[in-house]
Amino acid sequence: MRTRHVTPFILPRVVSIGAILGTLGATVCSAQSLRKHADRIGILVGAAVNPAHFGEAPYASVLAREFNMVEPENIMKWTTIEPALGQFNFGPGDEVVAFAEAHGMKVRGHNLLWGIHNPAWLASGHFTPDQLSKILRDHIAKEVGHYAGRVFAWDLVNEAFDDHGALRHSIWYDQPGIGLAGKGTAYIEQVFRWAHEADPQALLFYNDYDAEGINPKSDAIYAMAKDFKSRGVPIDGVGLQMHIFNFNTRNLPTLAANMARLAALGVKIHITELDVGIPVDAAGHPANPADLEKQAEIYRQVATACVAQLACTAFQTWGFTDKYSWIPWATKGKSGDGLPFDKNYAPKPAYRAVLDVFTQAKHVR
Ligand code: G3I
Repeated sequence: MRTRHVTPFILPRVVSIGAILGTLGATVCSAQSLRKHADRIGILVGAAVNPAHFGEAPYASVLAREFNMVEPENIMKWTTIEPALGQFNFGPGDEVVAFAEAHGMKVRGHNLLWGIHNPAWLASGHFTPDQLSKILRDHIAKEVGHYAGRVFAWDLVNEAFDDHGALRHSIWYDQPGIGLAGKGTAYIEQVFRWAHEADPQALLFYNDYDAEGINPKSDAIYAMAKDFKSRGVPIDGVGLQMHIFNFNTRNLPTLAANMARLAALGVKIHITELDVGIPVDAAGHPANPADLEKQAEIYRQVATACVAQLACTAFQTWGFTDKYSWIPWATKGKSGDGLPFDKNYAPKPAYRAVLDVFTQAKHVR
């Protein structure tokens, strides 16, 4: 009986304390935003976003205050943009662009070619290579064309290599592919050429995970970028996703060396999807403070490497508040709290670490 009476009384209080903490957090850091210092050193600081949350006041205000770039987490992917063959839906993407323009932010687009998470009509459509080639070319022309001049950079091709540096099998490459099966990166080259035709000003990126340090996958990406640059294929950059779980920092010791070799080719580097998932318990209790400090140290190291490398022109996290993150969903609740702001939009030690790095940075791009 007691519990029944107490619970409804306590819950609103917990919520309002959370809201107050969020507001306090917002006030504390407003004078020292990431964005302000990123602007000073000429770097883009971004977050993946979902326009469904723009109506939530702290989501919109923290985003606009702290970041000078946004990237739609999901709604510029095929499932939203072309939900049925030849039917295009730019509405949610347009909302992201409008938000960015209203707040003086840049927009990165994501993504136009990925072997997984495609709509069923496409993935199971049993198209011929000629049909797939036409479908892909039209999609790129329509989407890149629609956002020409408003999306400054695209993750054009996502996750095409496996951990050994081999090309993944996919509908685009060889199942059945767009007509270039077995010809290595020729299908990727074709896509870069089509996107460049659709918007010659847009910066075109290859984007992948676990290729931040030097390893077989990043070797393959490096070789492709080198080949493309030497033959005038319009590649402008490589996106390093940087999803880190369980403090597995195996890529960090060679991150600077990998960035340096890419920079030497004349391509830009963007950190595109940083998050550092830490153990949380299934009951949703907050992360342990020692883990938050370890997490902050990883954020510090990644930000330091990016700021020190002039070719690294963007530092982006995959979301910004622990309230909305793909990690708990992907890890079935075992990992979470991977972002710089907590669920109440209060800045975490990870936020302070990145702010410190930006504040102390001397290199101006
Ligand atoms: O939250 C709902 C849940 O309520 C529902 O029960 C469940 C049913 O499947 O879906 C949940 O939503 C999922 C959502 O992730 C949660 O964040 C969607 O199904 C799922 O499709 C969606 O996946 C997205 C994934 O790409 C596939 O498009 C993730 O949001 C998104 O973060 C992830 O992003 C990728 C990048 O594009 C490429 N690099 C890796 C990165 C992380 O996987």
